[in-house]
Amino acid sequence: MRPACAVAAQVLDDITGYIKPGLTTQQVDEFAAERIAAYGAKSAFLGYRKYPCYTCLSVNEEVVHGLAGGRELRFGDIVSVDVGVRHGGFIGDNARTVAVGGCGVAAQQLMEVTERSLYLGIAAARPGNRVSDISRAVQDFVENHGYSVVREFVGHGVGRSMHEEPQVPNFVDTGMNDRLRPGMTIAIEPMVNAGRPDVKRLKDGWTIVTTDGSLSAHFEHTVLITDGEPEILTWAGKTPFKSKAA
Ligand code: MF3
Ligand code: CO
Repeated sequence: MRPACAVAAQVLDDITGYIKPGLTTQQVDEFAAERIAAYGAKSAFLGYRKYPCYTCLSVNEEVVHGLAGGRELRFGDIVSVDVGVRHGGFIGDNARTVAVGGCGVAAQQLMEVTERSLYLGIAAARPGNRVSDISRAVQDFVENHGYSVVREFVGHGVGRSMHEEPQVPNFVDTGMNDRLRPGMTIAIEPMVNAGRPDVKRLKDGWTIVTTDGSLSAHFEHTVLITDGEPEILTWAGKTPFKSKAA
């Protein structure tokens, strides 16, 4: 898992460094395709249930699974960039929301709370704890800041397949609640709306947006449960590996 996650993290870093006003999301996805190939990896998303793009690029009120296309990114937009790669038989999955050039305080605070909720969730990913300890850490922090967590999409186990057990909700659920064990690798991925939690799917069949049109942010890491502290596998620059120049 470590090399696959290192590539996923590096590609995400490359893409967020590339994003600027005036680019279309199609151009960003083409850049992503080039970077994934440069590290000798493959997109884990392209072709997954017929998903048509290399990455997910979700702008402003788009929550997740935004399709690349002719939309031009404008100064002040926020973009959630989700990157999953397959490398050496394993999958690394990570996401981050970034501002295009800059953004307003409301967007910045939403991104900051979402990212901090991810790290609180990660801190709860310790052996002996259960999945619900992660969920609770994320949900409490988000809701204490007046935002809401999306219910329809959840984090997940990740390994040789992108979506493995267990599901990792960003809210406390009454369903399955596995105990966390050393060696498990899970993707923790809070999706946080500035307004109501409700989302809907656009007619393109993929893009998920907030029903009330409010902004949404998404941060994700693939994490290894160890005997002690969790290890964040999708940390850019963590593992040295060869690539062609950016
Ligand atoms: N990171 C997302 C997930 O874990 C992205 C899946 S997009 C898809 O579910 F297109 F591949 F479905
Ligand atoms: Co994921």
